[in-house]
Amino acid sequence: MTTWNLGPVDRIALGEGRAYRAGEHEVAVFRTRTGGLFATQARCPHKQGPLADGIVGAHQVICPLHAYTFDLHTGCPKNGTCEALRTYEVEVNSAGDVLLHL
Ligand code: FES
Repeated sequence: MTTWNLGPVDRIALGEGRAYRAGEHEVAVFRTRTGGLFATQARCPHKQGPLADGIVGAHQVICPLHAYTFDLHTGCPKNGTCEALRTYEVEVNSAGDVLLHL
C-alpha cells in the first residue's frame, strides 16, 4: 500500500469534492457537511463524468452528467444501473493533511 499526502483538508470545501492525481491514479476526495471524508475513483463508471464536481450529501455523490447516485461508503450505485466506484482509504493526519492510501 502506498500513502499519498494530498495537502490540507481545508482545500476541500465542506459538502464538496476535489479531484487529485496520485501517481497514475485519478481520485476524487469528498468532504461531507457532517465531517465525513471519502475517496473514490475520479471518473464515473457510466460515461466518465467528473465525480468531484457532483453534488455531495447524506454520504452520497450525484454524478454531474446523468445524476447517477453512488454511496460514498461502498461505492455502490443507488439505482444499480452501472458498476460500483472503487473506494479508497483516506484520513486526516495531525497536521490537517489528507492522507490517501492506495
Ligand atoms: S457519467 Fe456519471 S451518470 Fe453518466
